[in-house]
Amino acid sequence: MPTDPNQPRRPEITTPEQLSDDESQELSLRPQRLSEFVGQPKVKDSLQIAIDAALNRREPLDHVLLYGPPGLGKTTLGMLIAREMGVNIKITSGPVLEKPADLVSTLTNLREGDVLFIDEIHRLRPIIEEFLYPAMEDYRVDIRISEGPNAQTISMPIERFTLIGATTRYGLLTPPMRARFGIVQRLNYYPVDQLTFIVSRTAEIFGVKCEAQGALEIARRSRGTPRVANRLIRRVRDYAQVRADGVITKAVADAALQLLEVDEFGLDEMDTRVLRSLIEQFGGGPVGLGTLAIAIGEDAGTLEEVYEPFLIQTGFLMRTPRGRVATAQAYRRFGYAPPVDQANLQAGFTSPPPQQNLFDA
Ligand SMILES: Nc1ncnc2c1ncn2[C@@H]1O[C@H](COP(=O)(O)OP(=O)(O)OP(=O)(O)O)[C@@H](O)[C@H]1O
Ligand SMILES: [Mg+2]
Repeated sequence: MPTDPNQPRRPEITTPEQLSDDESQELSLRPQRLSEFVGQPKVKDSLQIAIDAALNRREPLDHVLLYGPPGLGKTTLGMLIAREMGVNIKITSGPVLEKPADLVSTLTNLREGDVLFIDEIHRLRPIIEEFLYPAMEDYRVDIRISEGPNAQTISMPIERFTLIGATTRYGLLTPPMRARFGIVQRLNYYPVDQLTFIVSRTAEIFGVKCEAQGALEIARRSRGTPRVANRLIRRVRDYAQVRADGVITKAVADAALQLLEVDEFGLDEMDTRVLRSLIEQFGGGPVGLGTLAIAIGEDAGTLEEVYEPFLIQTGFLMRTPRGRVATAQAYRRFGYAPPVDQANLQAGFTSPPPQQNLFDA
């Protein structure tokens, strides 16, 4: 359904049509149907079931919380959900909402089933959070009409809508907020084969010829992240057009990515800082999360929720009961010989923690 042009629009709350050029180029890369969304099979299945059931019952979809590291497709999924439900979507973000009044007209103008998408939902001010609770639970907004100790509020009913929250920091969401989402899904880093598929698809949309091995080379260095893959392919495309005959082959991708100094494992600057600090300052660990965070100048929660999952998944870092430990692979990546006990542990020669016996595999 088209949005009402007479409806007052607030700058802090947008529809997909109001995005900037950059954002709309990104939009053109976004899959248009849930079935076209590559990877994340568990997330996709659960969402599809919930959507089908809601459509069957002719009810709005339950509130959805999507969380996971940046660039894995949370906003994309939010838009896909609205599309599959056949409803309008309004997009806003935690930090731009200053007072409940910023949301009142949006909420009161939502039609039944419409989606309100709130990005960075962990950064909502408490006053906005409290304003949202009755909206989410009882479909009502409480509007203050006077200030002071005898402040008066009026309650207004709103249509039953779906709130989709997205966050990179699940841990920072308040428990009452978490509890109000019926559907909670975590996005994970993409394996190389799925990223290869995404690279090929983006190349096709851009109208660039990209050989399978070229796509694979870009995918391998994309840090498990579709946004990174899409960024790298733009740069490799430039290189292919200027220095080669426009076709992205393995050799072209390789040369372009080397020129760009893109890490062969996809590690970015922060990943490198974490691992170097762990090895060079703390002898490879074990070191506590808080200490490591201070050493790299990042907050512990971000390190734990945003950076570590990729390093763990790719086998560069381990969480142990005594702290963080660099793996043999991490030592080798930075040109160090791994300590003997490290190398042994990874080869399965020393006794592993009791709950995960490496010999049972
Ligand atoms: N599964 C996928 N298949 C194809 N393209 C994808 C997929 N996931 C993400 N993308 C592409 O990656 C880019 C980033 O996705 P998106 O903006 O949805 O990430 P995000 O999780 O919202 O990131 P952030 O936390 O930074 O807001 C988009 O251009 C999107 O088209
Ligand atoms: Mg997003």
